[in-house]
Amino acid sequence: MKFQTINNLLLLLLLLLLHIFPATSVATTVPAYTPADHILLNCGASGVFKDTSHRSWVGDAGLKFMPANAAAISLSSTASNIYPNVSPFPYHTARIFSNSFTYTFPITKGQKFLRLYFYPNTYSDHNTSKSLFSVSANSFTLLTNFSAFLHSQNSSQPSFMKEFTIDVQDYNQTLVLTLSPEPYSTGFVNGIEIVSIPDEIYLHRNDSIKHVGKNTQIFHLGRNSALETVYRLNVGGGRVNIEDDSGMYRAWYPDDDYLSGQAFGYTQAIGNSEVNATVPYIAPDIVYTSARMTYNTSSLNWEFPMDSGFNYLVRLHFCEFTQGVTKSGQRTFSILLNNIVADIAADVVSWAGGHLIPTFEDYTIWLPDYHNDRGKQNLGLSLSPNSAKDRQYRNAFLNGLEIFKLNRTNGSLASANPELLVESFELTVKPKQEKKIRVMSIIFGSVVGFLAVAGVSAFLICRRLKPSYGSAAESSFQPSSTTSTSTTSTNADLHPWKSCRYFSLAEIKAATSNLDRNSIIGRGGFGCVYMGVIDDGATTVAIKRLNPSSNQGAHEFLTEIHMLSKLRHLHLVSLIGYCDEDGKMILVYDYMAHGSLHDHLYTSHNPQLSWKQRLQISMGAAKGLHYLHTVAEHAVIHRDVKSTNILLDRNWVAKISDFGLSKMVDSNDFFTHISTNVKGTYGYLDPKYFSTHQLTRKSDVYAFGVVLFELISGRAAVDVRLDEEQHSLAVWARFCVREGRVEGLIDSNLEGQISAGCLDVFVGIAGRCIHIQPLERPSMADVVMGLELAAALQETTVVYDDDNDSGGIRSDQSQVVVSMDVICGTNCSESTG
Ligand SMILES: *[C@@H]1O[C@H](CO)[C@@H](O)[C@H](O)[C@H]1NC(C)=O
Ligand SMILES: *[C@@H]1O[C@H](CO)[C@@H](O)[C@H](O)[C@H]1NC(C)=O
Ligand SMILES: *[C@@H]1O[C@H](CO)[C@@H](O)[C@H](O)[C@H]1NC(C)=O
Ligand SMILES: *[C@@H]1O[C@H](CO)[C@@H](O)[C@H](O)[C@H]1NC(C)=O
Ligand SMILES: *[C@@H]1O[C@H](CO)[C@@H](O)[C@H](O)[C@H]1NC(C)=O
Ligand SMILES: *[C@@H]1O[C@H](CO)[C@@H](O)[C@H](O)[C@H]1NC(C)=O
Ligand SMILES: *[C@@H]1O[C@H](CO)[C@@H](O)[C@H](O)[C@H]1NC(C)=O
Ligand SMILES: *[C@@H]1O[C@H](CO)[C@@H](O)[C@H](O)[C@H]1NC(C)=O
Ligand SMILES: *[C@@H]1O[C@H](CO)[C@@H](O)[C@H](O)[C@H]1NC(C)=O
Repeated sequence: MKFQTINNLLLLLLLLLLHIFPATSVATTVPAYTPADHILLNCGASGVFKDTSHRSWVGDAGLKFMPANAAAISLSSTASNIYPNVSPFPYHTARIFSNSFTYTFPITKGQKFLRLYFYPNTYSDHNTSKSLFSVSANSFTLLTNFSAFLHSQNSSQPSFMKEFTIDVQDYNQTLVLTLSPEPYSTGFVNGIEIVSIPDEIYLHRNDSIKHVGKNTQIFHLGRNSALETVYRLNVGGGRVNIEDDSGMYRAWYPDDDYLSGQAFGYTQAIGNSEVNATVPYIAPDIVYTSARMTYNTSSLNWEFPMDSGFNYLVRLHFCEFTQGVTKSGQRTFSILLNNIVADIAADVVSWAGGHLIPTFEDYTIWLPDYHNDRGKQNLGLSLSPNSAKDRQYRNAFLNGLEIFKLNRTNGSLASANPELLVESFELTVKPKQEKKIRVMSIIFGSVVGFLAVAGVSAFLICRRLKPSYGSAAESSFQPSSTTSTSTTSTNADLHPWKSCRYFSLAEIKAATSNLDRNSIIGRGGFGCVYMGVIDDGATTVAIKRLNPSSNQGAHEFLTEIHMLSKLRHLHLVSLIGYCDEDGKMILVYDYMAHGSLHDHLYTSHNPQLSWKQRLQISMGAAKGLHYLHTVAEHAVIHRDVKSTNILLDRNWVAKISDFGLSKMVDSNDFFTHISTNVKGTYGYLDPKYFSTHQLTRKSDVYAFGVVLFELISGRAAVDVRLDEEQHSLAVWARFCVREGRVEGLIDSNLEGQISAGCLDVFVGIAGRCIHIQPLERPSMADVVMGLELAAALQETTVVYDDDNDSGGIRSDQSQVVVSMDVICGTNCSESTG
């Protein structure tokens, strides 16, 4: 009833609006820029191809842009390992050369974007993982000793694009692009795009640019300079696709991944048509219609990984759209780059000349070359509100951001390749090894190998019966890019979640005898958990009250409601409802009678869990995580998997809880990562995520591997009471597995309970989960399979006998064949549930 009325009202309002302002949006929107030149070259191909944005790529074969002898000195080829989410045009074909290769583009004079597309792969037996080459454009050096493979690995992007801005004037109106392989190497390129851009949009602007820092040299960005685009963000908004740009095919990405510190701010957006752009094309209107703002007093902070030893141009885009802020001086804030004041009193209305008028401000900053920084460092940006007469307007905000690298004085933009992560977390100690153990590990190894093969075939059989176990990537051919879904929310987001019940504060108080201390069943950094009863005592619930003191708390509160109201699974804690009355942040969950796995493993007053219970718990939790990773159109990365967040209900069913740190990603893109500030719990943190800030599902797999080792060892993820090399369970377990000393890990309470076959498979899968390289870690679907195999082996084999190990193992092998049916049976029947 109520909804009906609201819908009708909205409809009426919409009709009224349409009637009063017919097509106003068209009237105020500046038409998109029309580039004089737009070349889209699909290297190594012939013919014309349309990409997903309906742009036509032309094969370079036989075109006048190439040297006449191109066919003799280069090779056209198709990638041999196609990754499904990589757009076929221009990525699937490449031009390969072993000597310098030059494209010459006759072109109008003026500013151009030059975009180079790379897809490191194997092309006609040339494995481009070893390719190193340099690229120059007219007088500028864009790349030297460049490894597309290392860049791709470092960013976890199978394919990628690099964008440069150069001015074509003096070179007889040509753009000469030369790619030169290093000695004994080959070079390759998949696509080249050249787009004209308006003069003065980035380069040769007359006004001098403010330089932030001590050596206050003033920059005039003349046309003798070149730029490389490093970041282009729609702050506080979603991704803007190339076809929605103001005519230059720039993509704008969300800023969420670069936020740092406590204050994430909140995002605001206004209708598209309201912006009054006085300078055309600088950024599409949509960038100016969303912003990120501070809460009352705190600041906004971002961190951007950058190359050392360059000057950068930092462009901040602003548009004042808060109702009531129309005069200069009403709202001012300070802007800091790397903690150096760039502007002490930024006043957007005064800069722009009014309310709702977009503007931008440029700064340059020098990032010195430090020793030991491996050529990389972070650039920090922070905005903080100044005190204002009118408290209401005491906010800092930002709508958009671009960061460009400026060429060195010698015309070079090139920097060193990123480094691949090394196993810096490994132990250096090499304790002596006993002979018996080595023999054991060889036998174990072969059995594990056999089981792995058997497991895979069982998996394949099951797959055939059940096509959608796991989430097969669909080839949607979207251009690869850092994907992320904004998880920040305004309070307005709180209400549309229908599946989640709203509790009044009075109901919460009634349920917990007025939030009585005696009903507290847990405490943490987040606040307290109370036990309560609702619906006249019919349902027992756990009520989590978040500490109101931190903004982060508010963020986690919203994230938890947002995530849990969409997710339903036997192995996830279910959220019954929430209460946000009177500024309180309260969440109401199903009550978990047996508390957390952590309590059962480490609290002495709880009875010890048996091995079979532990196996059941591990399988349950794995299924919960598998569901998260593959759910519907969005997958969720939990980010804080640990034994304290695995809860047990009264039937000992394991449930994953605590989604406050979770992030959503596109589920059909396996390469997806999001760059975030590292959050999580020490002892469970994926070292790769820790060092790169790039979060993937494999970081959850890592943390789950640590939980598996907790289950088998009965010791905590971090225990500083132990010898130093055993402080970290992950490091210690990796060492024991590698050295074949698995028995040293096993909880003494489990003695005699674990069958040898089960142990092998369990430790094998757990060990793969905590592999340093994310690519080597299994998916959660594989983990579920592996644990089911382990459980089946536990059921079907004799208990491991220490005195007669080889005999025991042989009998395992004969039993495995039988157990395959068992596994397949369980698994396939589950698909119907
Ligand atoms: C290419 O080389 C890389 C690194 O050396 C290797 O990982 C990859 O498997 C190779 N690809 C092929 C198809 O041989
Ligand atoms: C421009 O053209 C002139 C005559 O065609 C030639 O001499 C000169 O070298 C060219 N300059 C460049 C930079 O290619
Ligand atoms: C920049 O300066 C040049 C010469 O000083 C002048 O011709 C040009 O119109 C100026 N451009 C702008 C946008 O002021
Ligand atoms: C846009 O801003 C200019 C001032 O820069 C103003 O003169 C004009 O009236 C504004 N247009 C609209 C539609 O508000
Ligand atoms: C700022 O603080 C005032 C007073 O404490 C409050 O009314 C207002 O809602 C706060 N605004 C934000 C954005 O938090
Ligand atoms: C430019 O200068 C940098 C150091 O300032 C040097 O590493 C690089 O090799 C130079 N590049 C060229 C093309 O001279
Ligand atoms: C870029 O290189 C040119 C020489 O090609 C030089 O004149 C110019 O000063 C350089 N730009 C910067 C910002 O150093
Ligand atoms: C070229 O890059 C590779 C890979 O990063 C590196 O190993 C090599 O030392 C570099 N060579 C030079 C001359 O810088
Ligand atoms: C990416 O490169 C940086 C700098 O070389 C390095 O510190 C980091 O570990 C690399 N990340 C990955 C995922 O390889």
